[in-house]
Amino acid sequence: MKRRQFLTLSAATLAAPALMSRRSLAAEPGAPLPLPQVMDVDGGNGNSLSAIAGQREFIAGAASDTLGYDQDYLGPVLRLKRGTTARLAITNRTDAPITTHWHGMHVPGHLDGGPQLAFDTQATWNPELPVVQPATTLWYHSHVHKLTADQVYRGLAGLIMIEDPAVTDPLPRDYGQNDFPLIIQDRNFDGSGRMSYDLGMMDMMAGFRGSEMLVNGAIRPRLSAPAGLVRLRLLNASNARGYTLRFDDNRQFHQVASDGGLLAAPVAMTGLHLSPSERVEIVVDFSDRAAVRLVSTDMGTMAGMMGGGMMGGMMGGGGSTSAASEFEIMSFDVSDAPLTGPQSLPATLPAQIPDLGAPVRTRDFTLNVNAGNMMGGMISRLLGGSSQTMGINGDSFDMGRIDQRVTAGETELWRINADMMVHPFHVHGTSFQVLRMGGQKVDPAQIGMKDVVHVEGPTEILVRFDQKADEKTPFMFHCHILEHEDAGMMGQFTVT
Ligand code: C2O
Ligand code: CU
Ligand code: CU
Repeated sequence: MKRRQFLTLSAATLAAPALMSRRSLAAEPGAPLPLPQVMDVDGGNGNSLSAIAGQREFIAGAASDTLGYDQDYLGPVLRLKRGTTARLAITNRTDAPITTHWHGMHVPGHLDGGPQLAFDTQATWNPELPVVQPATTLWYHSHVHKLTADQVYRGLAGLIMIEDPAVTDPLPRDYGQNDFPLIIQDRNFDGSGRMSYDLGMMDMMAGFRGSEMLVNGAIRPRLSAPAGLVRLRLLNASNARGYTLRFDDNRQFHQVASDGGLLAAPVAMTGLHLSPSERVEIVVDFSDRAAVRLVSTDMGTMAGMMGGGMMGGMMGGGGSTSAASEFEIMSFDVSDAPLTGPQSLPATLPAQIPDLGAPVRTRDFTLNVNAGNMMGGMISRLLGGSSQTMGINGDSFDMGRIDQRVTAGETELWRINADMMVHPFHVHGTSFQVLRMGGQKVDPAQIGMKDVVHVEGPTEILVRFDQKADEKTPFMFHCHILEHEDAGMMGQFTVT
């Protein structure tokens, strides 16, 4: 598209009020899906990563200011091997403090990369991470209190794949041939085509939603897949948007893994929900050679207001699932690449799901959009007052306060509620089982081990911590809508 045409169209679209029609028409979809480089961090020395500031033309001719690890936006896939120690040297070459948090990894608090482990410009952090958990797909991202949303938005995130040499993975696993990461993010672009992050009142309240979709850093890209079984590792690395995904021909696919590793058996489905920070691995059969699109509707933001009540309408999320609000994530066509890997799915998978036993203690968490007056709090944030308007159990995040003290090795029941909106609740340091969502019992076998759970109505998880965290470097529990987290919807706990 020519520049003049772009300017005209974007001026027209900026005036349009509806969420998805704000999409910049200058974005050219259909570029090949970028495949992140793999960095093997499997026990040797010498793996280093630099967090850098850069620029990327997401839209041709418009350079956006970005952040990344070793590249201008996002970072390499870190491939770790269970039973080894992953040694990394991370140097901060940005102009602000950063952390590198290993989201979903079972490591002790002093290695976790949480807010207490921020390191300054030009400093290097040298964590040595024991890899002790089953094979799975995780991610890493910055986690500096009040900067997480901005830094992740600009690109300070990447994928982790843990492999387990002791377990045979019976699924497609040739990276870049029949096994692809899909890092899904929504981003806004301003009238000149540059990525923008301007928080209005509704963005602070509901979390920021962009009007354009990126996968692996490219706008609605296209993957040419081999004409057989393909594994897709989906990560929702968006700040706030939850997705309800399907293929536009409604083809069936199978979920084979979730946050914490393989499911006990492939689960057939035609659509799935993906909350912020959740991962799922799916296997899709492209042997029919049909071109398809991966499409989505918004999961919505307000509890109990599906179809859009007053607030839902105001925020443009509203839980609407009408076809009109469906949008494209990316597209697929089928290549003539030779088939590799298995061409049928096994009936069962070598899942490693621990028996957590019965809980010895119950803890309750209520996620508060405001510990006080919501609108008043939002307005004071907009006016530059306290940004700590959200909280958990009535308290906004305080780096100097330990909120919970947990005993290592004890199974607990955590009951999570939200006072108004829906939230993805994330816990550091372990994987847990989900027992109840939206007040309904769920089958843990269908869901697998998780480290984030969508909270929409009464939610219960069974959790046990085997990794320790002291008062100096506690673990976090928080909402993974990054604007909520930065606004204080986060707490700290020790494991001793
Ligand atoms: Cu994805 Cu507290 O982190
Ligand atoms: Cu985390
Ligand atoms: Cu939230």
